[in-house]
Amino acid sequence: MKRHLLPAALMLGLLTPLAGAQTGPTVVVAGAAAVPADDKLYQALGGRDAIQAFTNDFYASMLADPRLAPFFDGINAKHLQRVLADYFCVVAGGPCVYDGVGMKDAHAHLGVGKGDFNALVEHLQRAMDRAGVPFATQNRLLARLAPSHRDIVTR
Ligand code: HEM
Repeated sequence: MKRHLLPAALMLGLLTPLAGAQTGPTVVVAGAAAVPADDKLYQALGGRDAIQAFTNDFYASMLADPRLAPFFDGINAKHLQRVLADYFCVVAGGPCVYDGVGMKDAHAHLGVGKGDFNALVEHLQRAMDRAGVPFATQNRLLARLAPSHRDIVTR
């Protein structure tokens, strides 16, 4: 039960301080939140292939959700799945290169609302759950992504 409160808490920015609570120095990646200089979260997520696998599952479940599917009409799924996994990888401190556009530019034309953002976060959380990612590890990634709502939610 408690776990389902997390996306709403993320949306409200309540957990944002967690993103800066990691020990060690942080680096800032273009278009991404501040990410840790170590790769502990990347390792905990199981590496690039594991990240790609839960990202593909996450993407498929968004397409099956009538609230979110319309946003992805006409989008190149293969490309988006790859850049999404690269993005998660970089945010987790992994040795990946994100060559997509920044969050503001990528979402500016979409009219994403708070409810859409929360729905996406829930799908991501459930996909990580299905992949066997421990709850605490899920939360560490979600906390790193939370600040991006400022660039993504426009209405
Ligand atoms: C934590 C939240 C989110 C993250 C980390 C995220 C990440 C990304 C990334 C990395 C891209 C690729 C940009 C590129 O192609 O270069 C992207 C594109 C896109 N995102 Fe998001 N996104 C988030 C939330 C959302 C939400 C809530 C929606 C809609 C409900 C959404 C819809 C889209 C769509 C439709 C594209 C493709 C845009 C296009 O190619 O024209 N995203 N997102």
